[in-house]
Amino acid sequence: MTKAKVAILISGRGSNMMALLYASRLPDSPYEVVLVASNDPEAPGLPLAAAEGVPTFAHSHKGLDRVSFDAIMDAQLRAVGADYVALAGYMRILSTEFVASWEGRMLNIHPSLLPKYKGLDTHGRSIVAGDSHAGCSVHLVTAELDDGPVLGQVPVKIVPGETPDSLASRVVFAEHQLYPKVLADFVRRDTHPEWLLSKVREFALALPETEEKASHGSPGFFVSGGKFFAYFSYNHHHDGVTGLLVKTSGVEEQAMLIDRDPDLYYRPAYLGPSGWIGIRLDRGGNDWEHIADWLQKSWRLSAPKRLTKMMNIADAF
Ligand code: GRF
Repeated sequence: MTKAKVAILISGRGSNMMALLYASRLPDSPYEVVLVASNDPEAPGLPLAAAEGVPTFAHSHKGLDRVSFDAIMDAQLRAVGADYVALAGYMRILSTEFVASWEGRMLNIHPSLLPKYKGLDTHGRSIVAGDSHAGCSVHLVTAELDDGPVLGQVPVKIVPGETPDSLASRVVFAEHQLYPKVLADFVRRDTHPEWLLSKVREFALALPETEEKASHGSPGFFVSGGKFFAYFSYNHHHDGVTGLLVKTSGVEEQAMLIDRDPDLYYRPAYLGPSGWIGIRLDRGGNDWEHIADWLQKSWRLSAPKRLTKMMNIADAF
């Protein structure tokens, strides 16, 4: 399996970054760390990452507006081909543009049991409130600060005489357990058949007048008029492959695609002679925009003229 490429953004000591990095070096890790970047060139975590052979990048945000600074970071993340971004003590509020472009692929760790205590001074606030437990959460990053869907949490008992520092020093142990596990599960999700089918379904059913129906045991998608334009293929006749079957213009295009990228494309056993193509979904790090484009192309080849005409008109605008 190809490993997912993760970039980590830090502003400080980077202990969570190191936890993610060392976990990535265990034999079964589904991800690798391809970059550690910081808005603070003095961040103590940077030389630690470099010492472990991880490329680093630092650029101060000072004197730059939020959008311009985030664009610099974004360019670095794209240059290393990052599939996911893990924020680990990154003390910058992100621009909406940056958040939108990494939506669903950017995680953060926060030292509280969210939704409690968003923002700073989480430990002090939980002690003053008399909570029995503090803890940490990993969540997906959305436009609102510390607000995205929670992916995992670990509670940490607040003990008598607790201070914010004593609590923080224990919560960080919990963080180091939680973050690598949640990130690994999140990345692995990208190869789970059920999750892959839900993604395919989301894109296929977003096309006009499309419905789903099982065909020879595989979920299939057809457009009104009854023509199938896509099948989700899971271990079909025990081939061990999870893939999406879509229509090409014919066997020539099919052959050209397989020739160009034989790891991604394959000739489906039963539909091959009619020019359908198989796209592997089980390698991790799927390019969903590309897959959505294929679904649309295949839909166009199958939809009645009345519908394709409408889409051509929409495209012209
Ligand atoms: C952690 O407590 C994390 O929850 C918060 O910032 C701190 C970063 O610590 N977001 P480190 O730099 O990972 O050691």
